[in-house]
Amino acid sequence: MSSLARPSSRPHNPCFSSGPCAKRPGWSPAALDGALVGRSHRSGPGKARLKDVIERSAKLLGLPADYRLAIVPASDTGALEMALWSLLGARGIDALAWESFGAGWVADIKGQLGLDDVRVIEADYGELADLGRVDPARDVVFTWNGTTSGVRVPDGEWIADDRTGLTICDATSAVFAMRLPWHKIDVATYSWQKVMGGEAAHGVIILSPRAVERLESHVPPWPVPKIFRLTKGGKLVEGIFQGATINTPSMLCVEDALDGLGWAERIGGLDALVARSEANLASIADWVERTSWVDFLARDPATRSSTSVCLRIADPWFAGLGADAQSAVPKRIEALLDAEDVAYDINGYRDAPPGLRIWAGATVETDDLAALFPWLDWAYATAKQELAVVV
Ligand SMILES: Cc1ncc(COP(=O)(O)O)c(C=O)c1O
Repeated sequence: MSSLARPSSRPHNPCFSSGPCAKRPGWSPAALDGALVGRSHRSGPGKARLKDVIERSAKLLGLPADYRLAIVPASDTGALEMALWSLLGARGIDALAWESFGAGWVADIKGQLGLDDVRVIEADYGELADLGRVDPARDVVFTWNGTTSGVRVPDGEWIADDRTGLTICDATSAVFAMRLPWHKIDVATYSWQKVMGGEAAHGVIILSPRAVERLESHVPPWPVPKIFRLTKGGKLVEGIFQGATINTPSMLCVEDALDGLGWAERIGGLDALVARSEANLASIADWVERTSWVDFLARDPATRSSTSVCLRIADPWFAGLGADAQSAVPKRIEALLDAEDVAYDINGYRDAPPGLRIWAGATVETDDLAALFPWLDWAYATAKQELAVVV
């Protein structure tokens, strides 16, 4: 057992998982008391609630009036796959990957859709792919915030205003925490359980007029499953964008999404959400600055995520360990902090280099991060002491 002294105070909320993420401050199951359970989602009140989510989300995000937003099946993966299956094949594709989720989209584009005019623009964990290589005449598939490496694109300046290809963006851990330049994005997807801390199940897809134009003019060379179908007879199914979902949604999740939107509206909208996440990143950066054993995995400060903050262990002792012993360190830190009810689910993603990942999106309180830092120092020192005995 460790002889190191435990810090005296704990985070009020120990939920630092990168998805499902912490519920909004003050949330309790009572927020769902008014859920339209046991009723048809196609009833008047059912459709009204779905439409309310659509309209309030679009407003909060500041979507241009001619952009469309729909609630679709199967979370962010469903929404992004829907875009790939419905839109790709008309042009060559630049597929960007710098961590696990981007790599997954590349694998699907090449392996499942079998497209061959695909340029893969890749980078290792901690780096950002070379955005300057993107060709505006090709479709581009990319992730705004690489959740498993904590590397985000800093802005949309690399996307041409006069592009002829479409930009298809997996924006799930960015939306509501980062400012997205909508005129640069033709398709964006996200899910409710990330920055808003909503209940998981459904995806959201956002389409620009150019994406709709592609949908109405391009017939994919493969069969499109019903849950991915956005058109009928070559025309967009408008009802999907008014709350007439493709299949049955959970009205409990819908209620929770509305609760999250209500909270965001009360605290000051998108500006407040972005400010909360940026303040969280700043507080982590302060701690990293004064802590010698830890550093950001993201090499360039301009690319550091403000939501899924990924940290590597910078201690020379750690660098000298073998791969198994290295993986054991963050795993032990996670277990120690879990047992103390200080922090849950903070080990890095399974495909990422060994390290920690701390969610710092808008639902996380900066004070809870401040309370976490001494515990991270304690857990690291404890894990190091234990391992030094074993190794
Ligand atoms: C960037 C990114 N893409 C896709 C996914 C998969 O999302 P979902 O589980 O909502 O389908 C995640 C989940 O963490 C993610 O972070």
